[in-house]
Amino acid sequence: MVKYRNIDDLGALRGKRVLVRADLNVPMKDGMVSDDTRIRAVVPTILLLLDRGAKVIVMSHFGRPKGHVVAEMSLEPLAQPLSNALKRPVVFVNDCIGDVVGETRDAMEDEAVLLLENVRFHAGEETNDAAFAAALAEGADCYVNEAFSCSHRAHASTEGIAHILPSAAGLALEAELTALEKALGNPQRPLCAVVGGAKVSSKLDVLTNLVEKVDHLIIGGGMANTFLAAQGIDVGASLCEHDLANTARAILAKAEDRNCSIHLPTDIVVAQEFKAGAANRTIAVDEVASDDMILDVGPATVARLGVMLEGCRTLIWNGPMGAFEIAPFDAATVALAKAAGALTESGSLTSVAGGGDTVAALNHAGVAGQFSHISTAGGAFLEWMEGKELPGVKVLEK
Ligand code: 3PG
Repeated sequence: MVKYRNIDDLGALRGKRVLVRADLNVPMKDGMVSDDTRIRAVVPTILLLLDRGAKVIVMSHFGRPKGHVVAEMSLEPLAQPLSNALKRPVVFVNDCIGDVVGETRDAMEDEAVLLLENVRFHAGEETNDAAFAAALAEGADCYVNEAFSCSHRAHASTEGIAHILPSAAGLALEAELTALEKALGNPQRPLCAVVGGAKVSSKLDVLTNLVEKVDHLIIGGGMANTFLAAQGIDVGASLCEHDLANTARAILAKAEDRNCSIHLPTDIVVAQEFKAGAANRTIAVDEVASDDMILDVGPATVARLGVMLEGCRTLIWNGPMGAFEIAPFDAATVALAKAAGALTESGSLTSVAGGGDTVAALNHAGVAGQFSHISTAGGAFLEWMEGKELPGVKVLEK
C-alpha cells in the first residue's frame, strides 16, 4: 500500500509558515456561499496547524479565470465565511505572490490566518510554471495539500510547489486517500460499482477501468440505455448514444472476459414527458414504445440489485440510476441508496461515493451520513475511478 507524507512528517511547526492548498471553489448565489462543505473540510487541518504554533496561509483557485484577474472570481468574499468556520480572524491579501503577500504575512499576528487571492489569476498556475511555484513558496516553510478535488490537476499550487517545500497531505486528504484505497486499491470482495448518469461517452474510461477491477458493475441512468440498445433492445425516444453501440459491446465482452457481472435494468419506468409528476408506466425493457423515454430503473431490478448488494463487501458509487432530480423518477436511486446505507450501517458493506450529482442524490435519499465515505470531488473522483494517477497526490508519496 502506498504511503503519503502527513502533517506529523513536517516535524515541529512552532513559528513556521505553512501554506495550505484548499479548494475554496464553492458554489455561490448572489455573492453568498450556498454550500460550505469545502470550507468546513479544511477547518480541522488549519486548526491543527495553528494549535502546533504554525502561521497558516491559505491558497485556492476559484472558477476558471485563465490567467487573468476577473473581479467576480476573487476569493475576497470567502474570507468572512472561512473566518466564521474557523472562529478566527482571516486576513485577505489581494494577490498570491509578490511584495504585498510578504508584507501582510510579516505583519500577521499569531493565530491569524492569511487568505491569498485566486492562484488562477496568474497564468503560471495552470502551466505549472516553476518560477510561479517558487514565487508561491517564497517565505513559506512547508506546504500542506488539503484539496483532493484539485489534485488531478498538475498545477503550481497542487504539484509544482510540493517539489520546492517540505510537503504533506492534510487531514481530509489523508482520510480521503485511506477511504479510496479501501474501496478500490485493496478492497474486501465482492466489490460492486454503481456507475450512473446521462452519457457513456463521459464515463468511458471509468467503465473500462472498473470492469477489470470490480466483481459487479451496475449501470444506471441514461448510459444504461446505450447498453440496452447495443444489445438490440428498442429504447424508443430515450436518451441514447447509438453511435457508441460498438464501444458498449466491447465493454460487455471485456467484462465477461474478466468475470465482472454487468447489471443492466430488466424493468424500467417510462414517460412521454421529461417533467416532475409526468404520467408514467413501469414495463419490461423489451416493451418500450417509440415515443417512450426511459427515466428510471424499475422496482424489480432494484429489488434484485438489493439482494446482490447484500452479498457484497465493498461498494463504489458514482452517478444516479435515473432522472433523480424529478419525482417520481428518483425512486430507484433513492431505494438503492437506502439499501446501501442500511448495509453500511449494519457493518456488512464499506461504501464510498463521489461526484457532485451523486452527493446530491445521496443527500436527497437522506443516506449520505450512512455511507462510509463521501467524496465531494468531481473530476478528481472520476479520474481516480478511471485508475489514473493524480499528480497532486503522487507528489506526496513517501
Ligand atoms: C472542482 O470544483 O471540481 C475543483 O475545484 C476543480 O476545479 P476545476 O475543474 O476548474 O479544476
